[in-house]
Amino acid sequence: MISLPEPPAAAGMDVFEAIRKRRSRRSFAEAPLPLASAAAVLFYTAGLTGARNHHRAAPSAGGIHAITVRLVAREVEGLEPGVYRYLPLEHALEIHFEGDVRQALCAACLGQRLVFEAPAALAFSADIGRIAARYGGRAERYAALDCGHYAQNAYLACEALGLGTCGVGAFRDAEVASCLRLPENERPLYVLPFGEVTE
Ligand SMILES: Cc1cc2nc3c(=O)[nH]c(=O)nc-3n(C[C@H](O)[C@H](O)[C@H](O)COP(=O)(O)O)c2cc1C
Repeated sequence: MISLPEPPAAAGMDVFEAIRKRRSRRSFAEAPLPLASAAAVLFYTAGLTGARNHHRAAPSAGGIHAITVRLVAREVEGLEPGVYRYLPLEHALEIHFEGDVRQALCAACLGQRLVFEAPAALAFSADIGRIAARYGGRAERYAALDCGHYAQNAYLACEALGLGTCGVGAFRDAEVASCLRLPENERPLYVLPFGEVTE
């Protein structure tokens, strides 16, 4: 397990300003991303913000939190290139596997260059079965809604931290699942390349 730096308690931008300035950003600086920046994005996307398990940065239907967030690291300081699972309860990363997957991930995302060029990406997947166990046929809807909450957090956190991101939903599910080696029970929902922006 890799412990992450504590996230900053405040940013130089309040939430209203972040909402106004937020844009989908597709050009990223060449420089490696500091681990502290990645850690802050992970925490403000999906972190544990209260004493209880379900008190997280994002709401979730029934507090189930069946969304898994993985950090796809290409050039993150202090991390080998690889795919890491974010552990919200520990604010830590667990290696999923090592290796630079950006080429395969970019191809799975229909060749979108930003996926190749970003120093890192968040990959969101959902265990629909866990939600269905409680909510039956509404599980897919709830998974997508949960994921949207997480992703909006990521957009706003990036903006407040001087970073940029762009939601990528156009991809071939099976290819993304295969290149991220997702377990059978997880379905890929969204990929958010992020990093320091060039403009
Ligand atoms: C569900 C969803 C999927 C998206 N998929 C992609 C994508 O695959 N590639 C991309 O470049 N932008 C994607 N976007 C970003 C939109 O193109 C962008 O939000 C829109 O053009 C409005 O621009 P703005 O976010 O800067 O306001 C996606 C956005 C959402 C919400």
